[in-house]
Amino acid sequence: MGKNNIFYCKECGYESAKWLGQCPGCREWNTFVEEAVMKKGSSHKSISTGELKPSKLSEISLKSEERTKTELDELDRVLGGGIVSGSLVLVGGDPGIGKSTLLLQVCKNLSEKGKNVLYVSGEESLKQIKIRANRIGNMGDSLSLLCETNLDIIEEIIRKYKPEIVVIDSIQTMFKPDISSAPGSVSQVRESTNVLMQIAKGLSISVFVVGHVTKEGVVAGPRVLEHMVDTVLYFEGDRHASYRVLRGVKNRFGSTNEIGVFEMNETGLCEVKNPSEFMLMGRPENASGSVITCSVEGTRPILLEIQALVCKTNFGIPRRTSAGTDYNRVNLLMAVLEKRASLQINDCDAYINITGGIKVNEPALDLGIIMAVVSSYKNRPVDQYTVAFGEVGLSGEVRSVNMIDQRISECEKLGFKTCIMPQSSIANIKKKTEMKLIGVSNIIDVIRYI
Ligand code: TYD
Ligand code: MG
Repeated sequence: MGKNNIFYCKECGYESAKWLGQCPGCREWNTFVEEAVMKKGSSHKSISTGELKPSKLSEISLKSEERTKTELDELDRVLGGGIVSGSLVLVGGDPGIGKSTLLLQVCKNLSEKGKNVLYVSGEESLKQIKIRANRIGNMGDSLSLLCETNLDIIEEIIRKYKPEIVVIDSIQTMFKPDISSAPGSVSQVRESTNVLMQIAKGLSISVFVVGHVTKEGVVAGPRVLEHMVDTVLYFEGDRHASYRVLRGVKNRFGSTNEIGVFEMNETGLCEVKNPSEFMLMGRPENASGSVITCSVEGTRPILLEIQALVCKTNFGIPRRTSAGTDYNRVNLLMAVLEKRASLQINDCDAYINITGGIKVNEPALDLGIIMAVVSSYKNRPVDQYTVAFGEVGLSGEVRSVNMIDQRISECEKLGFKTCIMPQSSIANIKKKTEMKLIGVSNIIDVIRYI
C-alpha cells in the first residue's frame, strides 16, 4: 500500500498530480482540491478463469416483467417505463428542491405493492423521516429505514436483508472507512458510488442515489459520478414556484430529454398531467411582447409563454438578458432581426423570459422569441389565440421542425385558433385540424402578422 496525494476537480472529478488553477476537463476555475488516496499495490498474480466464460447474446434471457412501475407516471416516463432491476439511478438537484420527498414517495408506492424497500438516510434522523412520511401518506409495511453513513455497514445490511430497491440519501454524506478523505470529497463520493454499483449489478437491486448540486463549497457535485451510473435525473425548477421539472440527462435504458412535471404541495409532490395548462396559467390578455409557443420535450409537446420587453437603452451599451433560454441564442436572433428585417433594435435593451421558470433550449422556440421581440418593440399585442413555432436560420429563413402532428394537436387541445409555423412543415402534417395554419418561410412574413 502506498500513500500519495492527488488533486481532484470538485466539479467534474478530473484528476491531476499537481494543483491547477483551471480544470482542463470542465474549464472551471479554482475547483481543485487535494485528497489523500490509498492506492493498493499492484499485484501481477495470474488469474485462473475457471468456470468463467463469455456469454452469447442469444443465450441471455430477458425476464418479461423487468421494469417495476413506481406508479408515478411522470417519473416512470423519465426512467423509460419504470425501474430496471439492477440499475443505479442518480437523482440530482439543488438542496431543498424535493429529492428526498420524491424518493420517499417512490418508497411509499413500491412498499404498498409489497416490494422490499430500504431507505438509507445520512441526513435525517428516523423521527424526521417519520414526520415527512406522515405528510406523504401511509407507508407499506415492507419499507425499512436506516440512518447510517458508513457504507461498509450499509453494504452488510443490504447483503443480509436483500431489499429489492435501495434509496441512498445522499451520496455526499456516505463514506468508506478505508479512505482517509472526508465524506463528500471526490474520492469518497466516487468510491461509494462504485460500491453501490457493485451491489446493484451483483445482487440485481435497483439503487437510487441522491446527489446535491453544489455551486461552491467542499462537497463534490453529482457530475463527478454522472459517467458511472446508469441513469441521471436532474430535478430543476424555481424554488419560489411550486412546480418542479424532473429531467433525464442520461439513460442507459430509455430515451433522454424526457421530462416529468410535478407540483409541490402539502402532501408531497403531485404529478402535473397537463403541463401546458399549468405553464399558461395567469397569462396576460392582449399584452404586447407575449407569445405562446410549442416546445417538444422528449416525446411531449408543451405550450409555453415567451415574454419580451424591448425598450430604449439609457446607457451606451444595450442590456440583454434571457431567463429560461439560451442567452447567446437570443442575441443571435436579435442580430438576425436587425440585419434581415431591418429592425432598429441595436440601441434597445431586451429582456426575454420564459414564464414559469422552466428552462428550454429547443430551436422551435426561435420564431416565438422573434415574434415576442417584434411585438414588444412595436408595442402591438399578438392575438391571444395564436401560437407560433419554428427554427430561424441566420438568413432569416424559417426552417421546419420535428413532431409536427403532436405540436398541432396540443395547440388545438388548448383552444388555439391560429398557428404560425414553417411553410416547409405544413406538408408533413398528417392529422386533420380545425386550426388555421399559416406557413411562413422568412421572418419578414412573420412580422406582417404583428
Ligand atoms: P426535500 O425533499 O427535503 O428536498 P431535498 O431532499 O432535495 O433537499 O424537500 C424539501 C422542501 O419541500 C421543503 O422546502 C418543504 C417542501 N415540502 C412540501 O412543500 N410539502 C411536503 O409534503 C414535503 C414533504 C416537503
Ligand atoms: Mg433531502
